[in-house]
Amino acid sequence: MSKKILIATQKPFAKKAVEEISEICKNSEYEMILLEKYAEQADLIKAIENVEAVIIRSDKITQEVIENAKKLEIVVRAGAGYDNVDCQAATKNDVVVMNTPGQNSNAVAELAFGMMLFMARGKFNGKAGTELKDKKIGIHAYGNVGKNVARIAKGFGMEVVAFDPFVPAEMIKKDGVIPLTSVEELYKTCDYISLHLPSIPATQKFINYDLISSMKKGAAIINTARKEVVCEDSILKVFAERDDLKYVSDIAPVKKEEIIEKFGDRCFFTPKKMGAQTLEANVNAGVAAVKQIINYFEKGDTTFQVNK
Ligand code: 3PG
Repeated sequence: MSKKILIATQKPFAKKAVEEISEICKNSEYEMILLEKYAEQADLIKAIENVEAVIIRSDKITQEVIENAKKLEIVVRAGAGYDNVDCQAATKNDVVVMNTPGQNSNAVAELAFGMMLFMARGKFNGKAGTELKDKKIGIHAYGNVGKNVARIAKGFGMEVVAFDPFVPAEMIKKDGVIPLTSVEELYKTCDYISLHLPSIPATQKFINYDLISSMKKGAAIINTARKEVVCEDSILKVFAERDDLKYVSDIAPVKKEEIIEKFGDRCFFTPKKMGAQTLEANVNAGVAAVKQIINYFEKGDTTFQVNK
């Protein structure tokens, strides 16, 4: 009997991505099961019960899901951040967890610029806005998305700096980007601060009162990373003290209503996480995910395993 691969995507992939995954499954004799736009976590728990592999996006793979998935051998998060997967529970239950790094990073980087332009042009309100050219952009965390942001920023004629204590300065310099040694400098000196930190215990509310209140006059934080890395109470506090700063985020903060009510003209939040929501990113990440599953089953390839 062939192994079953479940695609569990509350926010569905583009049709073409599903077709390509389906074709790969068929050619390699795996059975593909599709669970899209499911209403409740219980639907995921039921669908995963009988499969050996699952491809997800921001779908939540909790301890409960893992413990109910008796046949499950591998979870692949079609995307970068795997904070939605309980890796400890997976490891405990001998389930391999992988992500597909880099596959959707251009899409996220492009959205960051869409958001920057939207704010620079006063949300297209017809009044004179500003340009990105000659402005300074600070990339906070220089991974795959950060690298793409740097590439595009140079096309706009921006000055590009980055802070990432885990990436050697030489590697950042090679991209024509100035590496900073202090995060404080990034917040103090940039017109745009583009966030690309993962959501891990060490980064929760990392963008705090001190960093936000130190920002340059008129600066904007562009968050295409995770809402958890920004301290929302600090946004509320600093924005009440200063009327020049802007905050845009690709995923609404928990305190969205309060922030919008008080500072709506200086903020914008996408209704659904849109960063990776392009045809290209869906195909790239979805196809990479299914290939990684097949390579794991057939060759034991654990290259992209994150819970080693
Ligand atoms: C990621 O971590 O890859 C992005 O946040 C994309 O998330 P999504 O697949 O849920 O849109």
